Amino acid sequence: MPDEVKKPEGDKGPCVECSRRKFAKIGMGSVAVIGAGAAVFGYQFLSPNVLYEPSPVVDAGKPDRYPPDSVTADTESGIYIVHGAQGIYALSAVCTHLGCLTAWKPELGIIACPCHGSKFHIDGVKFAGPAPRPLPWLKTWVDDDGNLLIDRSEPLAREQFVRI
Ligand code: FES
Repeated sequence: MPDEVKKPEGDKGPCVECSRRKFAKIGMGSVAVIGAGAAVFGYQFLSPNVLYEPSPVVDAGKPDRYPPDSVTADTESGIYIVHGAQGIYALSAVCTHLGCLTAWKPELGIIACPCHGSKFHIDGVKFAGPAPRPLPWLKTWVDDDGNLLIDRSEPLAREQFVRI
């Protein structure tokens, strides 16, 4: 070993130089461990403590995916895309009572909430159940690439259509 110091021949006492070197190595190792811990703690302390949410804007693709007189439920995004006689509009699928996800019932032509039985017409107007408000219409537009975009964070006044 290159760090090992040879004691003079005949010397039976403890190696003072060896002890110092061992002590220095242990000390430097301890300082390195403490420094690494402080760096990790400092990084965690200084990095922002926030949650990153997905964008509220949903790209629903080309409008021709939605044929006339159709209701398309996007359960992942929590929206309905309705292509009615006047154009395309989007509704929130989240019930205005306690926030359950509603379901489109094509056999009845209504939107129904499975939790407490609220029922909504295809334009979001409630006609049964405890929901206090209609399903909100959401801002809907076509971008420069011709894709239908829906902003779930922006409820609209009713009766605003995207005409295609
Ligand atoms: S959450 Fe929809 S009716 Fe209660």
